[in-house]
Amino acid sequence: MGRLEGKDALVTGSGSGIGKSIALLFAREGARVAVADRDRAAAEQTLVEIQQQGGGGLALVADISKADSVEQLLLEVERQFKTLHILVNNAGISRRRAFEELGEEDWDAVLATNLKGAVLCTRKALALLKKQSGSKIINIASVEAFRHARKMTAYAASKGALASLSRSLALELAPYDIHVNYICPGLIRTEMTRPYLARWMFRKYMRHWTPLRRVGEPEDVASVALFLASSDSDFVTGEGITVDGGLSLRLF
Ligand SMILES: NC(=O)c1ccc[n+]([C@@H]2O[C@H](COP(=O)([O-])OP(=O)(O)OC[C@H]3O[C@@H](n4cnc5c(N)ncnc54)[C@H](O)[C@@H]3O)[C@@H](O)[C@H]2O)c1
Repeated sequence: MGRLEGKDALVTGSGSGIGKSIALLFAREGARVAVADRDRAAAEQTLVEIQQQGGGGLALVADISKADSVEQLLLEVERQFKTLHILVNNAGISRRRAFEELGEEDWDAVLATNLKGAVLCTRKALALLKKQSGSKIINIASVEAFRHARKMTAYAASKGALASLSRSLALELAPYDIHVNYICPGLIRTEMTRPYLARWMFRKYMRHWTPLRRVGEPEDVASVALFLASSDSDFVTGEGITVDGGLSLRLF
């Protein structure tokens, strides 16, 4: 029997990268997965792959930065699943630009997706998550919440806020036995990091400086999300788990 048998999960941004890997793993472990993405074709492709593994779920189009879109998303999840046990706030974007070149539109887009998106999805999912004890919220933050690269101020601010939101929410939702945790991935091989990883020097540098001597894969994050979604973590809340091969431990 799978570790998520009988559970219903919603994973935002699961048309690609880390979210897709989480959706596929959760489905392999027995969950029905609502695959939500603003990219319809990508969401549908993830659902096809879930079905090819013998799993089930839904593909839904939503822009999690918009309240009306999130409302429709959760109405559809409720209509089709009736229950929701696991919410993964994964959808995110980054804008790598010097602080002086980051305009209002950049700040709005990054904060609306990475922070407000998680807030909107959590607010609308709460009624369903409260229906049973032991529900799980997993927020995909970043090592950028506490370690920094240049030209990433908006992204770092959004992920730092998401980590704080997770801890604060864990306290507030504990009376409902809803567990809120977050994951801080380091450099993971996805569309988001493709431009950097396309550079041979960058790959070499990252492999050299990462204590575990490799770049992360989406599956490295998905397996930690599975732990946080399963009953194995039932006494864990408000916690952040770093998944970076030890990179953020380094002083030099
Ligand atoms: N890749 C990394 O190295 C890394 C490191 C740390 C944290 N993260 C975080 O992991 C999460 C997933 O990133 P990824 O690397 O898999 O990126 P990705 O670009 O491969 O996937 C992101 C997905 O989110 C979707 N999305 C973006 N904005 C959306 C919106 N408003 N509404 C609905 N869907 C939306 C995209 O369509 C895409 O399918 C993000 O929150 C990112 O910040 C990634």
